[in-house]
Amino acid sequence: MVRVKTELREAVEFISVNLIKDDWPFREPFDVVFCRNVMIYFDAPTQRKVLERIHRVMKPGGLLFVGHAENFQ
Ligand SMILES: C[S@@+](CC[C@H](N)C(=O)[O-])C[C@H]1O[C@@H](n2cnc3c(N)ncnc32)[C@H](O)[C@@H]1O
Repeated sequence: MVRVKTELREAVEFISVNLIKDDWPFREPFDVVFCRNVMIYFDAPTQRKVLERIHRVMKPGGLLFVGHAENFQ
């Protein structure tokens, strides 16, 4: 239903990752992470683990965007 221009498509990599598994394939740190409306499915200890994992793959001063309905404790 959606087509991305070739020049943009060449700069994008789609990877499927299970957030609660400890085998994330990312190598380079991220400036920005969008993780919207996913954590709502995890209990508090799992949310913390995933947030710590996200923190580890981000650059210092990087930005994390989450959904408005997140329920971090
Ligand atoms: C409500 S949808 C949100 C989709 C999208 N992020 C958005 O904001 O429109 C929840 C998504 O969480 C994903 N999800 C649930 N558990 C996950 C997990 N352990 N690892 C990765 N994604 C997961 C589901 O596949 C689903 O796509």
